[in-house]
Order: sequence, then C-alpha cells, then structure tokens
Amino acid sequence: MAIETVGVVGAGLMGRGIAQVIATAGLVVRVHDSNGAQINAARGAIEASLAKFVEKGKLAPEARDAALTRLHFVPDVADLVGCDLVIEAIVEQLEAKRALWATLERLCRADVPFATNTSSLSVVDQAHGLQHPERLVGLHFFNPVPLMPLVEVVRSIRTSPDIVAAMMDFAHAIGKVPVAARDTSGFIVNLLLVPYLLDAVRALEQGSGTIADIDTAMRLGAGHPMGPFTLLDTVGLDTVVQIGEIMFDQYRDARYAPTPLLRRMVAAGYHGRKNGIGFYDWRGESPVPMDLGL
Ligand code: NAI
Repeated sequence: MAIETVGVVGAGLMGRGIAQVIATAGLVVRVHDSNGAQINAARGAIEASLAKFVEKGKLAPEARDAALTRLHFVPDVADLVGCDLVIEAIVEQLEAKRALWATLERLCRADVPFATNTSSLSVVDQAHGLQHPERLVGLHFFNPVPLMPLVEVVRSIRTSPDIVAAMMDFAHAIGKVPVAARDTSGFIVNLLLVPYLLDAVRALEQGSGTIADIDTAMRLGAGHPMGPFTLLDTVGLDTVVQIGEIMFDQYRDARYAPTPLLRRMVAAGYHGRKNGIGFYDWRGESPVPMDLGL
C-alpha cells in the first residue's frame, strides 16, 4: 500500500502538528478544517514551528521550504479525494467523528485507511455504520506532535491486520516510533498515566507533600523529566478530568475517578498552562505553585 498523499482533518493543536510532521517527512499533505480561521492559524503555527527547527539547526532551510510546498490547506472536505490515507484530529465527539467517516467513505477509495487520533473514544464505535469498518484504525499521537516520538497504533476488533501493518510502516516512515495497542479505553499510555496523575492529586489532598515537593520528588527520585503537577498543567486539567471520567465509566475502577480537588479546579477555570493557571501560576517568568487552600 503506497502512501504518498495524506489527508488531515482538523487543523487544531494536534492536526497541525501531525500535518507538519508528515510534510517534513516528504509526503504531500492536504489539511482540511471546517473553521476557516483555524486554517490560517495552523499555517502560521506550522511556519513558526518549522522556523524554530531551522534556528536550532535541526532542519535545513531548504528542507523547511520543501515541506511547506508539500503542505496544502483545502477549504472543502471533498478536496481529500485521492488521498492514500486520511487522519482525523477533529473534536472529541463520537457523532462528529462518525459523520466525518461516513462523508469520507463516499469520497475515498475502499482501500484507503481511516485513522483516528482520538484519546478516549473507542475506535470500533467510530466504525459503526461504515461499509468498510476494517479500514478504521487508531493513530494516537502525543502533544507536541513534532517533538514527541511515540504513536500508538490502535487495532479495533474489526480493524484489518493489513491496515495495522501499513500504519506501523507509515509511523516509521514519518520518523515516529509506533507501538501496537488494543482498542481499550486509554490505550497504553493513558491507561498507566491517568491513575498516576490522579494519585499525585490524592497525595496532595491527603497532605503527603506540597505541589513543588511532590514534583521534585518524582523528578529526582523516579527520574521523570517533569513532576506530576507540571505534567497535569501541561496536559490540561480539563482534559485529564474528561479522560478520567471516560475511563472510569469504562472500567468502574476508582483509580480513574477524577478527585474532588481536580474537579473544583476545573470548575474554577484552572485549566493549566493553556490558560495560565493550574497547580502552578504560569503567567510570570517562572511557574509559582498555587495556594489551593489545602
Ligand atoms: P482542537 O480543538 O485544538 O482542534 C480540533 C479542530 O477540529 C478545530 O480546529 C476544529 O475547527 C476542527 N473541527 C471540528 N469539527 C470538525 C469537522 N467536522 N470537520 C473538520 N474540522 C473540524 O483539538 P485537539 O486538541 O487538536 O484534539 C483533536 C483530537 O486529537 C481529539 O480527538 C483529541 O482527543 C485528540 N488528541 C488530543 C491531544 C491533546 O493533547 N490535545 C493528544 C492526543 C489526541
């Protein structure tokens, strides 16, 4: 299965990173978003990110220019006709994803793999109603996509082994490291990471240590590149609560239940680095632990 042209639907945080990586790896990318403003923002963000790679000497200016010529922003989903693979990174809503796949099935050849970047929805649920459910696979990238090497290749009960093999090859071809995961909530990384992050919040709630000390302890004692509260703020507290709720619903295991403190922080609008306040206040020169009244 030769993959030369890739369609990316959704030009938000993840879609733009995925498009950048694929174009840099030498493939042609057509990026579509239903919101025109996002297309312009994505173009600017990709140019800025590539400029940083050039500045740091990690990408030649000619390679940057070539990548940009392979990147096409298309206003209409029908412009994805002829793509050899379509990856979606649209909103995390089952109905929206199902509707997109139904539209794409009318447009694309039957052998074109459809890959979802979902973090928490089941892959097989998204295949509901498709004539070719065997073509739907998970390709779960990590944020920031240009820097994070891992891709989880997710096989549903109905995904064809050939499609899985093709996606493993594709991940290698774009410079990522794939791991094979099953279509169970959280795949591999979030299955292990979410309970760890929630345990850190429980440790804080029960007074085991301060935000700064728990972060330092896990960095220096466990060799983690960042502590759990820095990681929670980086992932987004609202995102962790949303994923935790979905996983709790699936497994009915208290390890996945978002804690009362975390829910209150999200209710208070503390979403982490993306809006400047989470377990730390990120608005100044360096992050300052928040007083959460504990
Ligand atoms: P985002 O909100 O930044 O971007 C979503 C984009 O999709 C928006 O630009 C929106 O206009 C567009 N969109 C929505 N519905 C559309 C449709 N029907 N057709 C075309 N475009 C549409 O979201 P983000 O963070 O990039 O997440 C996208 C997907 O990636 C979600 O499924 C999310 O669960 C998953 N994901 C997110 C990660 C993260 O760290 N943010 C990590 C890994 C996966």
